[in-house]
Amino acid sequence: MAVSDVAGVCFIAEKLFEIDPYYVGTTGKLAGIRFQAMIAGQSCFPFQTQIRCAQCSGGPMSKAGSSQGVRFALRMLLAVAACYGTGTLQAQTIAKQIPVPLPPLGWSSWNSFSNTVDSQVIQNQAKALIASGMQKAGYQYVNIDEGWWLGQRDQDGNIVVDPTAWPPLTPQERAGDMSNIVRYVHGLGLKAGIYTDAGKGGCSTVAPDIGPSMPNTGSEGHYEQDFLQFAKWGFDYVKVDWCGGNKENLDPAVQYAEIARAIAMAEGATGHTLYYSICDWGNQSPWTWAPGRGGVPADIWRTSGDIVAPIVANSKNSGRKASFPGMLSNFDRGIHPEAQHTGFYNDPDMMVIGMPGLTDVQNRVHMALWAMSGAPLIVGADLTTLSESTRATLTSPAVLAVDQDPLGLQAVKVAESGPGLDVWAKALSTPGQRAVLLLNRTNAAAPISVHWSDLGLLESSSATINDAGAQKDLGVFSSAYSVTVAPEDAVMLVIRGSEEKPVRYDAVESGKQLRSGHGVTPVQAHAVRFNNVKSTSHFARVEVTYTNGDKETLLAELRVNGRIATRIAFPPTGSGSAEGRITVQSLLDRNGSDNILTFSTDGDRGPTIKSIAVH
Ligand code: GLA
Repeated sequence: MAVSDVAGVCFIAEKLFEIDPYYVGTTGKLAGIRFQAMIAGQSCFPFQTQIRCAQCSGGPMSKAGSSQGVRFALRMLLAVAACYGTGTLQAQTIAKQIPVPLPPLGWSSWNSFSNTVDSQVIQNQAKALIASGMQKAGYQYVNIDEGWWLGQRDQDGNIVVDPTAWPPLTPQERAGDMSNIVRYVHGLGLKAGIYTDAGKGGCSTVAPDIGPSMPNTGSEGHYEQDFLQFAKWGFDYVKVDWCGGNKENLDPAVQYAEIARAIAMAEGATGHTLYYSICDWGNQSPWTWAPGRGGVPADIWRTSGDIVAPIVANSKNSGRKASFPGMLSNFDRGIHPEAQHTGFYNDPDMMVIGMPGLTDVQNRVHMALWAMSGAPLIVGADLTTLSESTRATLTSPAVLAVDQDPLGLQAVKVAESGPGLDVWAKALSTPGQRAVLLLNRTNAAAPISVHWSDLGLLESSSATINDAGAQKDLGVFSSAYSVTVAPEDAVMLVIRGSEEKPVRYDAVESGKQLRSGHGVTPVQAHAVRFNNVKSTSHFARVEVTYTNGDKETLLAELRVNGRIATRIAFPPTGSGSAEGRITVQSLLDRNGSDNILTFSTDGDRGPTIKSIAVH
């Protein structure tokens, strides 16, 4: 029986309130009495058992609709009006979660090939991505990093490419045309990525890794021309580095917005989408400005420097090693949960799994950390030489599912069992489900415990636990779970318990509360406000119910208590008044109920915000 098909009737204190289906599950306060609107036929015990229904009807069950439905709605509005006195409504969320772009999965040439990348390297790696089972597991990007271009342009400023490194791959093709390799990669059912720098000279100018210094390997002064070229060549993804921008002391927020505009122009001209990867290594806190930079509907931004300099086999730097502490440090610096949502992701760098320096266990921990972080999973190892153990780590379905969870959120550290004994939790899209990582950073085995209360789950309800790494069900547990974790190791769990329904708030516009379900569109200098928002968790999960009848994603900024805003994407919800829901994590004042959340836009188009519901 679908909730939307039924209306219930409940007698509360000998008064009859007929329930509009929209409010089924609602709890509130009416004439000083707490009530819960139930589906008829279910028990009618009021919320927190504070009142007794004088009578609860097991029927009649009526179809909502026609004049009867209107009558239900009107009567319920009375109840809702009374609920405004408490400032909140508790309701089950009925809008469907709108799919958001997920973190990209793929491979990049930099970590294992440095400036030696060429067409042959890319063909070999693309084939290995398929042979290793990685494509099947979801990896799709084959990204060409620095070294593909030596900095030459023709008299019109067009990029000129080394014809020997990028030869024709079929008889009809021309040497030195990057669309050759793109066609090859696309032909395998994969996507192709390219690389440039926001400044005049790229990293090869500033600090060449292998080979001589190469001046002018950046796009500054040619943004529109270069990004149009990348789109025309057919690339699907572009990483934009910051060596030149940094050297010239440019402002990354400004340059990356300009580049986003150039990307939008290129997409408009070619109809081809370029996924935007911002790489300024965390300079000027990109998590505060990079989400949706320049209006892009999805992007990623680096949060720190490289885990390791490239390790190229048979080269002068083949002796380098990736380090476990280096990887952990990038993980820690990549945690900015308030900025990661709706298709925007912190990027702690390409993974070094399978490269010299890490053990099999450390590779597994690395994978678990990136998945918990909901990070882009871009592999840096040479895919033609993966060990069976590395291959299994990279393709673990349970771990990949945590990274690719449709809610698109980041893990939060929720507890410590002692110094260096961390409990991380990531809210998953199914209510009551959490991915949990018990991480032992120390060099001695130690027990680590997770309590349901750390996870925002009901302590009174038992939960099932699956060990995601071992792919094994552990059973049913009540209130907590504890396990001894080996030194520098981690245990990844998926815990399925129960959680309270979120508390719902309706928007306030210019100081007046809107009628429930109506919503308002933020426009410039006219914010939609939610007052008196209460939270009991460290990072509150805020579900935003909205409509966007456009064909395109719309953006709005969310500001909490007047602090730095984060730009949120609102993908289309379909035509008409279809409602959708996206979820973000906000750092609220957890001891108070006086948080203020505002949504605003810097243009004149925005989603219509209906309500928020806060966990
Ligand atoms: C920077 C980036 C790396 C890589 C190199 C290329 O260091 O952070 O990921 O792209 O430049 O030179």
